[in-house]
Amino acid sequence: MASLFLCTDQPHDLAITFLNSQNIRGTMKIALFGPPGAGKGTQARYIVEKFNIPQISTGDLLRAQVRAGTDLGKTAREYMDKGALVPDGIVIGMLEERIKEDDCKDGFILDGFPRSISQAEALKDIVTLDEVVNIVVDESALVRRITGRRMCKCGATFHIDLNPPKKEGTCDQCGGSLYQRDDDREETVLNRLKVYRSQTQPLVELYKGVGILKDFDGNRSIDEISSDILSYLSK
Ligand code: AP5
Repeated sequence: MASLFLCTDQPHDLAITFLNSQNIRGTMKIALFGPPGAGKGTQARYIVEKFNIPQISTGDLLRAQVRAGTDLGKTAREYMDKGALVPDGIVIGMLEERIKEDDCKDGFILDGFPRSISQAEALKDIVTLDEVVNIVVDESALVRRITGRRMCKCGATFHIDLNPPKKEGTCDQCGGSLYQRDDDREETVLNRLKVYRSQTQPLVELYKGVGILKDFDGNRSIDEISSDILSYLSK
């Protein structure tokens, strides 16, 4: 905590807000933490199914803008292709708009936000988190997980060896064609991990310090991890 507080202008305010905001368990405003490839997106789908709350992935929102060819998407792409964080001015506004939507009334899962001290500070003015689920994975496994990942437009995620689809190249859920994300090349992945360590990892200590973050061992099977997370969130 102490070193983290040196990084921000108003650390005290931030900590107090979190401490005052320990909602009764049962509300479902969750953030999923973990380095690139930890399994946030994979686990989010189980939580969505069980608790019927939406997953808000800032990465997915940005990729939708890139695909649509908007100005925002063009700017975001310059950062994403390098594995850098997209500027707060773009991401925070986008997140705020999404959270205002009707389906977020009873809760949501933030996947990939907040990712820096400045984003955590902005978030506290928008909404109060109930739980932070932190998926902890050995770094040696992450590059393999990400470079072998295959995605579907429906949101499903697979891995060519670790979590293969029943039919190669085809989504089990909707039959769509699987593709590889542009930023899943090894050199970009290494930079994403570096950015995670320097800008996002400090948030783990922050949220742990105020008592709303729980670590989950992400070095196990997808089913074992989801079973743990779901039973923790059900308490
Ligand atoms: P984003 O899309 O958020 O990517 P990320 O955080 O790097 O996380 P990933 O999607 O790579 O990994 P994941 O943890 O979801 O893993 P998954 O479940 O897919 O961000 C992309 C970019 O957008 C950023 O670099 C940045 O530029 C920008 N961005 C996004 N949010 C931003 C923000 N807030 N601020 C600024 N910029 C932002 O699993 C990975 C693979 O492993 C899959 O193949 C899966 O099948 C497999 N797998 C999962 N679990 C297991 C397991 N237990 N065992 C074996 N394999 C597993």
